[in-house]
Amino acid sequence: MKGIILAGGRATRLRPLTSVTSKQLLPVYDKPMIYYPLQTLIDAGIKDILIIIAPDYSGQFLNLLGDGSEFGVHFSYIVQKEPRGLADAFVIGEHFIDGDNVTMILGDNIFINQNFSESIKSFKSGGMIFAKEVPDPERYGVVEFGPKQEVLSIEEKPVNPKSNYAIVGLYTFDSRVCQAAKDLVPSARGEIEITDLHKFYLNKGELKVNTFTGTWEDAGTFESLLRVSNEVAHFQKIADKKL
Ligand code: G1P
Repeated sequence: MKGIILAGGRATRLRPLTSVTSKQLLPVYDKPMIYYPLQTLIDAGIKDILIIIAPDYSGQFLNLLGDGSEFGVHFSYIVQKEPRGLADAFVIGEHFIDGDNVTMILGDNIFINQNFSESIKSFKSGGMIFAKEVPDPERYGVVEFGPKQEVLSIEEKPVNPKSNYAIVGLYTFDSRVCQAAKDLVPSARGEIEITDLHKFYLNKGELKVNTFTGTWEDAGTFESLLRVSNEVAHFQKIADKKL
């Protein structure tokens, strides 16, 4: 299983915080944001990790993370010149993936006290995604379930969501994802959409959707960034007391 952290993009919504650095390097309580998705991959036993970064602050990522030996893993880097959509990670990462299974996590997705290692370690083939009930599903990819928990539909940021289940930024696919991503047609917003890859596997009957109830934040707004720092601090203090 290979790992990818997608840490590109310009994060204009977070300016001026992101005027001279990347969103994924901003502090979340006591660590740079990217440490959290990195830990999620490391916890799942993934040792070979590609970090996709934007050109502007690529040196900062290298200075912070190095070759990965400090974390007991190996890092590769690709500079993504233009953000073309999340699915582009599987196009530019094809040589890195090299026919293996791959788990991608978004560099601004933070899971607290949530361990995906069993699901990721036992993954064999197809696609596997994770969904959580949220109050604002229109901000995310949304999955609709039928009475037997079967997936009825998947939509990217629907105006009228068919459920409250948001698809979080953690995706496990087999190596067919590279060709599927190359075949995608850009959406109305000009991006190749990760939800179209979910549909690729759904249409084959090979998409598994796991729901979970733990803490998850997409730290892409001022509010969620503040909230997740407080949540991390809270959980860390509880953990420290137990020691
Ligand atoms: C992306 C995906 C969306 C997913 C979300 C999770 O949206 O397109 O399907 O639910 O990440 O964070 P973005 O946050 O890039 O707008």
